Amino acid sequence: MNIGILGTGDLAVTLGRAWARAGHSPLVAGRNRPRAKGAADRIGPEAEAVDTADLAVRADVLVVAVAWEGVETALSLVGTSAGALAGMTLVDCTNPVDYTTCELKPATGSAAELVARMAPGAHVVKALHLFAGASWPYVGPRESAPVVAICGDDSGALDRAAALVQDLGGRPAVVGGLTSARQLEEAAGFVMRVVASGHNPRFAVPDVDPALLRAAQTTAK
Ligand SMILES: NC(=O)c1ccc[n+]([C@@H]2O[C@H](COP(=O)([O-])OP(=O)(O)OC[C@H]3O[C@@H](n4cnc5c(N)ncnc54)[C@H](OP(=O)(O)O)[C@@H]3O)[C@@H](O)[C@H]2O)c1
Repeated sequence: MNIGILGTGDLAVTLGRAWARAGHSPLVAGRNRPRAKGAADRIGPEAEAVDTADLAVRADVLVVAVAWEGVETALSLVGTSAGALAGMTLVDCTNPVDYTTCELKPATGSAAELVARMAPGAHVVKALHLFAGASWPYVGPRESAPVVAICGDDSGALDRAAALVQDLGGRPAVVGGLTSARQLEEAAGFVMRVVASGHNPRFAVPDVDPALLRAAQTTAK
């Protein structure tokens, strides 16, 4: 699959490498063409630097891996206001968290819902914002693979995003529609607060009795 990656930084490179390893072709673009070329080179020969304006035509799915402050500018370079991304799956990986206070920057709603407004018609899925890019690809035992909570309103887009998470070695968990995105984004701030307090966030959520888990899975079916 041609995975358009909007962003040229650490997350763009780590995700791009992991997806390339899974057989995908990353198309990397950003506001700075030389940096896009540098990111594509760091990913490897499967990756190509492209102009932002080419993403809408060449990518099968678009992954937004830009600093939250730059998302509106970066998306405008793709041509979203003209509806260029209508119908496309758009995976929003941004963390709109103030790293000093660990508070979410959007006062209400979520970054993902704002992205959906910036890209009319695109099927936005919130995903992959919580784990460090260096977590991917995950190659350990299946039962220990990271569970990646994702949300969105379009079932086809959720399926595509879930498949991309699986290609990284993660286990996708669809937790709701796009209005759930604020909760997922808050989770990043929560993790940062736990880390700042000197604890491993891995132990900051309850372990669930396998019998309860099986019951929940049966109810969900
Ligand atoms: N790194 C991770 O492990 C990780 C994990 C999960 C989620 N995230 C989230 O993913 C996003 C990217 O993180 P990163 O670590 O890759 O950051 P990064 O290495 O600092 O890269 C930031 C990217 O955003 C672009 N950017 C910054 N300000 C911009 C602006 N005003 N207009 C247009 N583009 C702008 C940069 O372009 P220039 O190079 O041209 O400045 C660069 O492509 C962030 O929202 C972050 O919270 C990161």
